[in-house]
Amino acid sequence: MSMTIREIHPEDYDAINVFWRNIDGIELDDSEDEQNFKFFLGRNKGMSFLALDHDKIIGTCLASHNGRCGFLNHLAVAQNHRRKGIGRMLVQKCLEMLQAEGIKKIYIFLSKKNVEAQAFWEHIGWVQYDQYLVMTIEEDINP
Ligand SMILES: CC(C)(COP(=O)(O)OP(=O)(O)OC[C@H]1O[C@@H](n2cnc3c(N)ncnc32)[C@H](O)[C@@H]1OP(=O)(O)O)[C@@H](O)C(=O)NCCC(=O)NCCS
Repeated sequence: MSMTIREIHPEDYDAINVFWRNIDGIELDDSEDEQNFKFFLGRNKGMSFLALDHDKIIGTCLASHNGRCGFLNHLAVAQNHRRKGIGRMLVQKCLEMLQAEGIKKIYIFLSKKNVEAQAFWEHIGWVQYDQYLVMTIEEDINP
């Protein structure tokens, strides 16, 4: 295998979308269309990475921040390339970019059903943060 890691570009949308659709544990909602993907990358330049085996995408991790804290999303590694250190490397690249911008507190949102991924995050040193309850607003509710 010849693995490389590089920044994600807007033109990667189609290939990344196909990749994500084949990964159990990556949940894509309706808001994650091409326009939203490009908007996200534009607001968080140079912070998201993919891993390639030659030309084939085998891993992704997206990073963003709001000036105070950072977030990682859509960490995924192709089934046949797992347990080779690629997930850890992608997380590390994203953390370096966030930390270079002075962002110290970084969060992930993980489905409670995704016990495999939880085991991965715990293994690489992340801990559950139970001080907050995550809340949102339903689209059809007017505040
Ligand atoms: C979670 C995921 C990205 C891990 O990728 P990976 O490339 O296999 O992980 P790595 O090889 O970098 O693993 C780093 C370390 O974690 C360990 N690890 C990996 N997966 C693990 C798991 N499911 N349980 C426990 N430990 C795990 C590895 O053994 C390795 O340990 P070591 O460095 O002590 O040898 C991959 O399993 C995946 O794509 N899952 C599906 C998508 C998903 O659920 N993403 C999470 C969204 S938040």
